[in-house]
Amino acid sequence: QRIYLEGLMGRRPPLPVRPDALEVEAQKRMSPEAFAYVAGGAGLEWTMEANREAFRRLALLPRMLRGAKPPGLGVELWGRQWAAPLFLCPIGVLELAHPEAELAAVRAAAKRGLPFMVSNQASHPLERVVEAAKAVNPEAPVFFQLYHSTDPKAVASFLRRAEKAGCAGVVLTVDTVQLGWRPRDLDLGHLPFLKGQGLAVYLTDPAFLGGLDEPLEGPALRPKPTLALLRNLLALRRTGKRYGLSLAQMQKAVRRFVATYSYPELSWEEVRRVRESTALPLLLKGLLHPEDALRAVELGVDGVYVSNHGGRQVDGSLAALHALPQVVRAVEGRVPVLLDSGVRTGADAVKALALGARAVGLGRPYVYALALGGEEGVGAFLDHFLAELELTLALSGVGSLEELGPHLLTKENPPP
Ligand code: FNR
Repeated sequence: QRIYLEGLMGRRPPLPVRPDALEVEAQKRMSPEAFAYVAGGAGLEWTMEANREAFRRLALLPRMLRGAKPPGLGVELWGRQWAAPLFLCPIGVLELAHPEAELAAVRAAAKRGLPFMVSNQASHPLERVVEAAKAVNPEAPVFFQLYHSTDPKAVASFLRRAEKAGCAGVVLTVDTVQLGWRPRDLDLGHLPFLKGQGLAVYLTDPAFLGGLDEPLEGPALRPKPTLALLRNLLALRRTGKRYGLSLAQMQKAVRRFVATYSYPELSWEEVRRVRESTALPLLLKGLLHPEDALRAVELGVDGVYVSNHGGRQVDGSLAALHALPQVVRAVEGRVPVLLDSGVRTGADAVKALALGARAVGLGRPYVYALALGGEEGVGAFLDHFLAELELTLALSGVGSLEELGPHLLTKENPPP
């Protein structure tokens, strides 16, 4: 109502309402490298497109005249109250969009009672992000997203930090044991981590820093002195200053990060160990196969998070929305199932919820909103999304989230 009334008074929203326009406007504000990193996907970006196509093809079949009141959107998950079945996905290196990065995004989410997931590759230390959330809303859930590197001491330390900070849970991402093949970044020769970006959680960790003097395997970088190298070194030094680290220490930290980050051997054994070493709710992110979901449940995880990383990892893999029904069937309600990858509108969220997701994750669009307007931008984006979600439910004759189910969906709309 507020949004429509403001329109009536001739007030324009602070950023575009249409998700595709949001992306176009954000591109104008971001450097080509930053935009490529956020917008890009793996390979030919077929999976990225398939994620959207899957939503387009699944049709809602609304019911009329049901006398339904506007549904409440609140849900309880893992013992915490969420204002709506939505959350902000873990996204690394948010400083590429805005210097306040996670701090701005988490405030916008927490103010609205929505959870935020802090990436392991955040641009601000985990503790600062949790504090920022608590300052605006002590109840707002903040999750920590973990990448399981080859450095078990760092992994253990990250888990302790998440517990101590008061995180609502740990999200272990398992689809990124190595970085995907991302042509847009490759064409620009751009990897933010080499500039020290997105390393705040590492650079504030005693276990990670303690390993700086241990010998590392892997090729030594002996770059030619170019202007680009100089720029990267300056960026490294700038980041180092924030954490009291010298340029030499920063170079070592970046090398250590690069050498330990990839862990293709990651297996259920590590999941078991993480499960055993924390009492926090544990979610597994990046599952598509129902058998993987089943195994995760048997291992004692508390949540299954269906995602293909927004099409950034395995190009040609199944759209997340298409993977959802089989995972939901396999899990049989034993733990909540979450979904992200391609969610752009409130109607998209309704479709995923109708297929059995308990909540859906918002990804790239909030990064664009962050680039355009910092905390206020993310807030406006969330308000638009919440409004559309509420309207779509009401206009579909849905009186409560519990009423959602596959009966609200029908076979695909014919292609345009
Ligand atoms: C991501 N994603 C991600 N996931 C994760 O577990 N840890 C991370 O650090 C990141 N980093 C990251 C950076 C950028 C720029 C993007 C776009 C994505 C994946 C993210 O959590 C989510 O799965 C996708 O963004 C969902 O796809 P859409 O809806 O954004 O297309």
